[in-house]
Amino acid sequence: MVQIHFEGKTIDLKPGETLLQALVRARANPSYSCVAGLCHSCLLQAQSGTIPRAAQVGLSPDQCQQDLLLACQCRPESPLTVRRPHSARRTDAMVSGIRALSPAIMELRLSPRSPISYQAGQHIDLWHGPYLTRHYSLASVPALDSDLLFHIQAVPGGQFSHWVHTQAEVGSLLQLGSAQGDCRYGSPQPGAPLLLIGSGSGLGPLYGLLRDALNQLHRGPIELLHLARDEHHLYLQDELIQLARQHPNLRYSSLVGPVEALAPLLDAAIDRCDQRRAQAYLCGASRLVTEATRRLRDAGLNESQIHSDTFDAQQLDSLPDPI
Ligand code: FES
Repeated sequence: MVQIHFEGKTIDLKPGETLLQALVRARANPSYSCVAGLCHSCLLQAQSGTIPRAAQVGLSPDQCQQDLLLACQCRPESPLTVRRPHSARRTDAMVSGIRALSPAIMELRLSPRSPISYQAGQHIDLWHGPYLTRHYSLASVPALDSDLLFHIQAVPGGQFSHWVHTQAEVGSLLQLGSAQGDCRYGSPQPGAPLLLIGSGSGLGPLYGLLRDALNQLHRGPIELLHLARDEHHLYLQDELIQLARQHPNLRYSSLVGPVEALAPLLDAAIDRCDQRRAQAYLCGASRLVTEATRRLRDAGLNESQIHSDTFDAQQLDSLPDPI
């Protein structure tokens, strides 16, 4: 039987069990949320043993080099010793502002104690206390915003989003990890069309990316499509309409409905652009990202032209009290 060593506990892994399930069963109080390899809440660091490849899918080369792994995706086949990631890599930050963007979305403004290196559109791990953690995408732009901005959607059963929506206040203390992710403006060809497609609070990183591109005087056409499941998840409309008035190369559309409702708008946006040069950025629910990716691929865009950041909160019955 494979044994797991974690903070002084030795746990026998049951057949088919993930590392996360074993830690929950042993009441080791691990952090987790999506249980799908997406949110990185369950990040742990191996101290000895072999890390299964599947446990590092989606991590950056830097994280892999540090022997970090996703406990929810980890099915060890030999003894493994793990610990929580070293806190030395975290930066202290204070809540400097909080406001409702809509009934379902809060803007959280953080002032880090020391500068954080990031690009608009990337995501970053936030900790409140030792165990309450979640990664969120940045809505701020380093060149434009002195603080870090996050759009945080209330998620049923989500402890971190519940804390932000009900208890966080100016002066609350958190810690930050390092910025990760490929959903960033980068250096596209001058004049390349940009397709920004998001749902819910997936608008946050796209809003940052859009302002970054405009600030860098992007000359190509930019299409921003935002899908909201209901009126409560629709936000920033006035500001984005205003931006589109100021920038003739920006076209902004928002709508309320299911993922299928976005298809005609998305197809029209794809038809309007030069598909050989377009860069697409997809942020939000996995159904939206999957459907948009399929349509973009059908239109001839290749992997290097499509950048995505999926955030879903799935829960397993066998894992109580997810964060
Ligand atoms: S990535 Fe493991 S819980 Fe989300």
